[in-house]
Order: sequence, then structure tokens, then C-alpha cells
Amino acid sequence: APAQASLVLHADRPGPKIARDIYGQFSEHLGDGVYGGLWVGPDSKIPNTRGFRNDVVAALKALNVPVLRWPGGCFADSYHWRDGIGPRDKRPVTLNGWGLVEEPNAVGLHEFMDLAQMIGAQVYVNGNLGTGAPGEMADEVEYITSPSRSTLAEQRRANGRRGPWPLAWFAIGNEPWGCGGNMRPEYYADQVRQRAMFLRMPDDDKAKIIASGGQPDDLHWTETVMASAGKQIDGYTLHYYTIPSDSWEHKGSATGFDETAWISTIAHALRMDDFITRHSAVMDRYDPEKRVALVVDEWGNWYDPEPGTNPAFLQQQNTLRDAVTAALTLNIFHRHADRVRMAEIAQTVNVLQAMILTKGDQMVLTPSYHVFDLYRPFQDAAELPVEIQSPPYVHGGISVPGVDASAGRSPDGSIHLALVNPNPESAVHAEVRLEGAFGRQLDGRVLTAPQMDAANTFGRPDRVRPQPFKAARLAGDVLMVDLPAKSVVVLDLR
Ligand code: AHR
Repeated sequence: APAQASLVLHADRPGPKIARDIYGQFSEHLGDGVYGGLWVGPDSKIPNTRGFRNDVVAALKALNVPVLRWPGGCFADSYHWRDGIGPRDKRPVTLNGWGLVEEPNAVGLHEFMDLAQMIGAQVYVNGNLGTGAPGEMADEVEYITSPSRSTLAEQRRANGRRGPWPLAWFAIGNEPWGCGGNMRPEYYADQVRQRAMFLRMPDDDKAKIIASGGQPDDLHWTETVMASAGKQIDGYTLHYYTIPSDSWEHKGSATGFDETAWISTIAHALRMDDFITRHSAVMDRYDPEKRVALVVDEWGNWYDPEPGTNPAFLQQQNTLRDAVTAALTLNIFHRHADRVRMAEIAQTVNVLQAMILTKGDQMVLTPSYHVFDLYRPFQDAAELPVEIQSPPYVHGGISVPGVDASAGRSPDGSIHLALVNPNPESAVHAEVRLEGAFGRQLDGRVLTAPQMDAANTFGRPDRVRPQPFKAARLAGDVLMVDLPAKSVVVLDLR
């Protein structure tokens, strides 16, 4: 028999806006993430627009990607932006720390801005603190944003871009405690204070400035940066990757896993809530108005590399498990909409929990892509509280909530309810009492598959994809929903 769950959706208690920027993506120069995945060059036989693959651009455009982070990650702290401007055939070939492969610098600022414009995303550039000379970061920002006749702005024009580009977010370094320079928080906080001072931007094109957080459980780092540089920044980052095990050496496989790995991955993913809660509490002490956003600009599942691939390229398959944890994570972000106002899944194409995989001229949309598609209505919706009562899902001594849900109301009044049943064996019958909700037209879509590790492959690209959902009906002010095992459902009520 299906498990029974009862929920209350408080449409009468709208909370903060779910910032659409939490649906952002991260594109790093890493493995086949940029070269091959996004960029094939204008002379490629693969259909492209000014070098970017048409298939991938169209898929990203369809997803309403609000913001794209570039060029790293760890790569950002050894990236010199001047290597990526001017005639492409004159650009230097540098070394990329991810596998020490050659970086042709074919994709630089102009190309990245072109991509962002094609897909309709705002731009988040991660500056180089680790190896960049102090003036380099200031010059980069001036090159991007200055409408003046300064030599840097004229250089931008000579390179083909007349007006400044809109720059939404700019980060001072990445993971400065590790690959970004082995810094201590006191030193980093001073660097932020100094660097932020010289990032001069016109009033109508002022990027929000971001400082990096420490390790996910390092509250001292947050304390230190907020105390001494909190006034200089608009965003503060949290990076948290989910692995199925407790060992970075043996994380676990992306496919062919058992139910213990399934539930363990889910339990690890749910830790995001605790990290956000604890960092937010520290931030609240220094910034009670919540002016500074908590920016989860790297999140997702990280598995052992795909056998036969370069381990430095962080390639992995993406399955229904990734869809379920993506939905659970987005629900957590919704519940923290007051503080979490930007996030980027890692990463866009071919790297870690990718939205898209490519091989030669082929492309597949992953189950994670489809979750972002299902959740599109939540972008800029007002968060609505949901109370949930359900028996837990327990396996192998691990227990997680039996149902998870989040809700939002769009500016047009429609209500959206996301429901996740993490149990791979058992369906759930959920009764959702609607408090203060009107409207009687119900639509829904579901993402599920027969196997926990069902994936979309180049041979079978549509194994996991959203289907219309028919197992929900309204009885007065109660919504009856039969959630299939291991599924993500999004309902829209008008
Ligand atoms: O996303 C892969 C890497 O993970 C990023 O470059 C780095 O910031 C993090 O450690």
C-alpha cells in the first residue's frame, strides 16, 4: 500500500521572492565543459553561431537560464583575462590546471558575453585573486563596464564591442582557502576590502561584489569575512558538493549503484539545509537586514569519474538520482529565499552534475536539466510555506523525510507545488490542504523512471524526461496526489 502523507500549503502566507538567480549555472574552463561542450569554433562542421553550438545554445535558451558564472572555479584564479581578448589566432596558449591541458584562450570575455547574450542570461564573472596582479581585476571590470574613452574602453571597442556589457555579479577570487591561494580568512578578508575598493563601475552598471566562503562547515571563515569585509560585499558564497559516501577518494559511481548509495546521496544532499541555516545565522548577526545574499555558486553531486575518461575532466553520467537531489536542493533554496538569492549548479555541460552532455555533434539533456525545466515557474515566485507530515523513508539505517515539498505563487496568481518522493520502492498518497488558494485548473508534470540509475544516453536520449501528470485531483480545498516511487512532480494551479 502507498505511504500516506498530509500537507498544508499556506497560500495565505506568501513569503519572500524566490530569486530567479538561484536557477543559475556554472561554466568553467574544465575538461569538455567549455571547449567541445559549448564552443566548437566558427569553422566547425557542428552547427554553430559564432563558434557556440546551436543545439546547446537552444537548449539553454529554452531553460530561461537567469545567470551564468564563468570562467571558474579554480580556473579563475589562474586565468588572465587579457589572454582572451584580441584576434583569436594571436592569443597565447596557456596551461589549464585541470589536467594541465592546453588552454587555447579561444573563449575569452567577448565570446563569453556573446554566449550569455544568446541564451538571455545575466553575467557573473569570477575574478582572479590568486595569481592576478592587483590592478588586473580592476582593469577587467573597467574593460567590461566603462562607457568612457579610457584606453581600456577603447581597446574593448577596437576588439569589436562598442558599448559596455552589463555585469551583474563579480567575485573576488574562488575558494581562497584552497585552490584559490591557500589563504587564511583574515588575510582573505583584507584582500576583499582592498580589491573591492578599486572595482570602479558606473552607477547604472554596478556589478554586485561577491566574496568567497570557506569550507561548507567553516563558520569561523564566515564570521571573519562578514565582520571585516561585510560592508564591502553584496554576496557571500557557499560551495557544497554531495558525494554518496564519506570519502573523497572513493565517492561512488554515477551509475550502477544500489539503494544504500541512493539514500546516502539523498541524505548528504539534504545537509545543504543545515549549512545554509548555520551560515545564515552568522550573517544575520552582521547583516540583520539581509542585504548580503548567500550565493550557493557551486552545488551538485560529485561522483568517481566516468571510467576511461581523464579523471581531471570530472565527467560523470547523470541519472534519476541526480534529478531527485536537484529537486530537493531547489526546495531547500526556496525555503531560504530570504537569504539565498543566487546559486549555480556545477556545471552546465559535460562536467560534474551537468545539465547537458555532448559527444561530437550529439547532445543529450540530462535528468537534472529536466528538473530545472519543471521548476521554471518558481523563478521570481513568492515562496509559500508548506507543512509536511509523512512517515520517513528508511533504508540501511539511514532515514530521510518520506516526502518533500515547496510552493510558490507567480506574479500572475498561479500557484506551483513541487513534490518529491525519494522512496524508490513505494508510492505515496499525499493530501494537500490548500489554505487561501483559489483557482481550479490543475496541470502537472512528473519526472520518474523504472530504474534508480536511469540515464539519458546518446543512444537513448529520452529515457528520463518529463511526462504529463494525471494522478492529481482537487476535492474542494484538498489536493489529492498519488506520487509514484522515486519521482519529482510539479503541479500548477490556476
Ligand atoms: O566545480 C569544480 C571545482 O570544484 C571548482 O573549480 C572549484 O571551485 C571547486 O572545488
